[in-house]
Amino acid sequence: MKVLSIVGARPQFVKLAPVAAALSASGETHVIVHTGQHYDERMSDVFFEDLRIPQPDVHLGVGSGSHGAQTGAMLGALDAVLDEHRPDWVLVYGDTNSTLAGAVSAVKMHLPVAHLEAGLRSFNRRMPEEHNRVLTDHAADLCLAPTHAAMEHLANEGLAQRAVLVGDVMTDICFLVRDRVAGNAPDLPAGFTPGDYLVATIHRADNTDDPARLEGIAAALGSIPAPVLLLAHPRLVARASELGIELARGQVTVTRPLPYPDMVAAVLHSRGVVTDSGGLQKEAYLLGAPCTTLRTETEWPETLAAGWNVLAPDLVGVAEYAVRPRPESDRPPVYGEGDAAQRVVRTLTDRLPR
Ligand code: UD1
Repeated sequence: MKVLSIVGARPQFVKLAPVAAALSASGETHVIVHTGQHYDERMSDVFFEDLRIPQPDVHLGVGSGSHGAQTGAMLGALDAVLDEHRPDWVLVYGDTNSTLAGAVSAVKMHLPVAHLEAGLRSFNRRMPEEHNRVLTDHAADLCLAPTHAAMEHLANEGLAQRAVLVGDVMTDICFLVRDRVAGNAPDLPAGFTPGDYLVATIHRADNTDDPARLEGIAAALGSIPAPVLLLAHPRLVARASELGIELARGQVTVTRPLPYPDMVAAVLHSRGVVTDSGGLQKEAYLLGAPCTTLRTETEWPETLAAGWNVLAPDLVGVAEYAVRPRPESDRPPVYGEGDAAQRVVRTLTDRLPR
């Protein structure tokens, strides 16, 4: 079986790692195409190195742009690549512009498409990720769902026949890396003590691009009565600088994004997480850190059970939520046990179009 993975943005490299390992262990042929959506070393290269992912076979180098320009550049470049490789499956990951471009390109070339992390919904039509997920699920021949809730969404949209529950590949890589870094002390800035600080990330357009909203977020982070390590995405740094909004307030220290193993270590030793990232909400749950999410909804509603994750859409109460005690309740394995990538490979093999 020949699988061609299309990736381009940071969270997709994390998802690719266990899938690439499982495909290699099964002796399958795997072609990796990097669209170039993320290109900073800290947003791309370090993930391939740290997570031992084979270097991409093809790099499209599209870079940043408006949604249309970026997605269109990928589409234009993908035709020749897919034509050259003619895989049995085109595998697309998550909900970025690279996901949508990969799915549309494959459909137009009459190549079977599988969507990994299918069926997630925020029901927020303002989010570019929501457009990407819905369109990709409906274009795909196979929807690989991470959760029961995702399976229900797919069924509600008439896609039950194409849907298979495989679990969450992010659990695979998160547990693997957790075990690898468990004995290491996290690399923290001066003044940060293990067990006492929070990890924060903000990158969604709805949070970064509206001046009043970004000012509110900077103020909320600055009001937290504990040291906050703000791992700043390039978009956040750029918008804050353009808008003249100071991020380093109160006990906030602003640093560059972390490589994945350092991120896992930082969360593992933190007292909690404040974020608008989907992936980090789930990593916080998997690693046992209480999370405060600065959004109106989450695609991972399982994390809200028993208070492991709390939504703070209007930014009220962030200072109190962020330092709340760790819930005493269990964290049931709603995201699988760490064997999702093997299920992905098995499903791709079983459902191979004849
Ligand atoms: C993208 C995904 C989002 C995912 C996120 C993870 C879409 C629509 N969104 O958002 O779902 O959660 O990746 O990070 O695909 N930039 C750099 N260097 C880089 C990459 C980006 O400086 O390596 C800057 C550029 O100014 C760029 C901006 O960040 O315009 C936004 O990047 P983009 O890839 O468009 O979207 P993300 O916000 O990263």
